[in-house]
Amino acid sequence: MKRIAVITSGGDAPGMNACIRAIVLTASQHDIEVIGFRHGFRGIVEDLNQPLHPNDMRLVSQRGGTILLSSRYPQFKEVDAARQAAAVLDQHDISALVVIGGDGSFRGAHHLDQYWDGQVLGLPGTIDNDLAGTDTTIGFTTAVDTAMEAIDRIRETAEAMARVFLIEVMGRHAGFIGLHAAIAGSAEAMLVPELEPQPKLADLADSIRRARQAFPDSSYLIVVSENLWPGGVEELARQLTQATGTTCHSAPLGHIQRGGRPNAADRILSMQLGQAAVHAVLDGISGHMIGVEQGHVVRVPLHLTFERDKQLDSRLVDLQLGLQQLNFASNVVKESA
Ligand code: F6P
Repeated sequence: MKRIAVITSGGDAPGMNACIRAIVLTASQHDIEVIGFRHGFRGIVEDLNQPLHPNDMRLVSQRGGTILLSSRYPQFKEVDAARQAAAVLDQHDISALVVIGGDGSFRGAHHLDQYWDGQVLGLPGTIDNDLAGTDTTIGFTTAVDTAMEAIDRIRETAEAMARVFLIEVMGRHAGFIGLHAAIAGSAEAMLVPELEPQPKLADLADSIRRARQAFPDSSYLIVVSENLWPGGVEELARQLTQATGTTCHSAPLGHIQRGGRPNAADRILSMQLGQAAVHAVLDGISGHMIGVEQGHVVRVPLHLTFERDKQLDSRLVDLQLGLQQLNFASNVVKESA
């Protein structure tokens, strides 16, 4: 009987459990045994193994987080760590490893592939959606839903009190959550790392001032990607308060974006990718990510997923920037009427 191993690595993402379930069930259909290692790559190095049976997969896919637990393990860059992981995988007679994770995890998977004879496959699991070669990643749309719901809630209180809010969303160094949450939350402005040129403090302050003049009884929300403004969103709020004379509130959403039940799209994606990973194992594929492009499963060399930057959809960027402009245009129409 063939044996494969699975880990979840790096930041957990809603849908990882549904993916594990699909791997275990599909594998059992092909008479393949599945072993999990807890806490990602660290769990392989420390041999924290856990058998995964189809019967254990009930009531799993609807849960957030990861039943296999995860960790960040920068030590895995070292050759010794990869060699140790390879030895542990061999001791368990494992022929393929499936890594569910993001950019850092795929670097780890690629590294291991150099020191281990088994097959190494990656499944894109990160709320950031910042992996090239796949249209979307496990957890991304749920994180956007969560951010949108939080923005909607802030909108209600902000509207009631006619306040300005700066809402910080996750994304590491990419603006996918920021862009999608800004559109879905009808944000008046958006700050994401991909904007060229980046809006300056004076531009943001000017927009807030104009909006306050035009709509004194309305709220004004800016969605801001994390790691963008030196000192964070609190510092940006402080500077904007000073520049505009209007109190600007900061609301970092933080890790609530990572937890929670996966939405339907993430469950479906996870199961599609989990099943495809087992098929790739049977096809003898190694060193690849299994992703989706335009609804089709694709196999992409692992290094191409993290060596290239994934671009935001320019049509969505234009949509948001255009709608931001229209905020003011609608007021011009109102004034001239
Ligand atoms: O990669 C997912 C992510 O949530 C990023 O959006 C964020 O920058 C990072 O992880 C936070 O990592 P940690 O939970 O280790 O602080």
